[in-house]
Amino acid sequence: MNVILATGNPGKLKEMESIFREKGNLPGFHLSTIASLPEEIRNAYNPVEDGISFLENAHKKVLALYRLLKEENNNFCMIAEDSGLEVEALNYAPGIYSSRYGEDDPGRISRLLGELEGLEPKDRKARFVTVAAAMDKDGNVVYFTGKVEGRIATEPAGENGFGYDPVFFHEPSGKTFAEMTKDEKNHISHRYAAFEKLILYLNRWSVRLKK
Ligand code: IMP
Repeated sequence: MNVILATGNPGKLKEMESIFREKGNLPGFHLSTIASLPEEIRNAYNPVEDGISFLENAHKKVLALYRLLKEENNNFCMIAEDSGLEVEALNYAPGIYSSRYGEDDPGRISRLLGELEGLEPKDRKARFVTVAAAMDKDGNVVYFTGKVEGRIATEPAGENGFGYDPVFFHEPSGKTFAEMTKDEKNHISHRYAAFEKLILYLNRWSVRLKK
């Protein structure tokens, strides 16, 4: 079965491939992204992320791909995800607007730090959230949520990762996500938690298909 990740982002494919490998490479599953689809499908894939929740946006992304692929005869399943940062003191903002909270990563981080200025660590609670959606060729869809709790540091630390990683402090590790190695972050991340559940589901699904 072809499992197509509704993203052009090679980093997300790599992350998912490594979780697949870790979970024992499901037999008969082949992972790819829209980058490997024919050009006309690639160009036509343009989901509008105007939902009001991570779930709705993940659904929109997976449904847009389903509509482009449903005429194909192949056995396939599509996966999409939407992620973001929720800060309790900001009424769970930036949430679905995480990538639009400023012009670039430094701009988004400085806006966040400015909005939290003067707050003590206990009032800086935050979490990263991912909702992953999987849709089969008949349009059946399931969703899995992954979360990781932390707090917003008072200043950026670390060089790794992307987005809000330099200010996302993970208490049990005693460091920000940007101070972790890729492997370290990948094992505790919100995306890992959501994909882990999704892969377990695909596993059960493949067993059912064989019956
Ligand atoms: P996406 O849905 O994965 O594209 O993420 C949306 C936005 O949320 C990104 O542009 C980042 O600003 C933020 N974000 C999501 N996941 C992470 C993460 O693991 N680290 C840092 N920022 C993240």
